[in-house]
Amino acid sequence: MPRLVIDGKTVVAKEGTFLLQAARDAGIDIPTLCEHPAVEPYGGCRLCLVDVTRPEWDGWSKMVVSCLFPVEDGILVSTRSERVTQTRKVVLDLLLARCPETPLVQELAAEHGIDRTSYVPNPEPTDCILCGLCTRICDRLGTSAISSANRGVGREIAPPFHEAPPDCIGCLACAEICPTGFIQYQSGSARRVIWNKEFKMLRCPTCGRGHITEDQARYYDGRNGVPARYFEPCDACKRKEQAAIAVSLMAAPEGR
Ligand code: SF4
Ligand code: FES
Repeated sequence: MPRLVIDGKTVVAKEGTFLLQAARDAGIDIPTLCEHPAVEPYGGCRLCLVDVTRPEWDGWSKMVVSCLFPVEDGILVSTRSERVTQTRKVVLDLLLARCPETPLVQELAAEHGIDRTSYVPNPEPTDCILCGLCTRICDRLGTSAISSANRGVGREIAPPFHEAPPDCIGCLACAEICPTGFIQYQSGSARRVIWNKEFKMLRCPTCGRGHITEDQARYYDGRNGVPARYFEPCDACKRKEQAAIAVSLMAAPEGR
């Protein structure tokens, strides 16, 4: 297994892991904004930058994004060298200019000594930090209903042509993974609205609660061999039913 040194601490990492995970496993914190265990790493926010060197490199080092850099035997890693700290500050300064009113960005910037951006703040503040978590989870689910559009300061996350996305099934995965709460939705027992698309809810036959959308149930039907009727009862009623079965089995006399 690769043996490396992170901030002076010798770490034996699991084969095939990335530096970010190796640091976390060793109790070393590296700030991140675009990383989530549910999706593949993407290297978008650049906050997780670290310095990597080797004894034979004669003092030369390179900066890498730790969420995408596979661990290597013998490397020396610094998560808070002067260069790393300064670069992270620039990243946060720029992010604060884009999202000056976003609490998550304000807090992270303040932790790095930045109370206000040194760049011209975005005249149309947004809470979208362009971390790409929403589009990656949507791709992972196979729906790919939203994507990033435009370039530069106009870059945004949106459905195609800003219209109700035909492929969206209303699962809310994008909204739930979004770290800033940028993705808005309404969800009740009868209807759900997200990305300007309205969905009818599938009601649990036992308690009557609308728990997933009908589009979700249709989309999941037959995938991985799970039939549509599996999705009809809500999770709470399924658990209650299973608990009742378990209790009745335990109460049954042995041998019957
Ligand atoms: S909408 Fe949320 S999850 Fe998607 S890129 Fe923006 S901040 Fe990230
Ligand atoms: S967490 Fe590595 S680039 Fe965002």
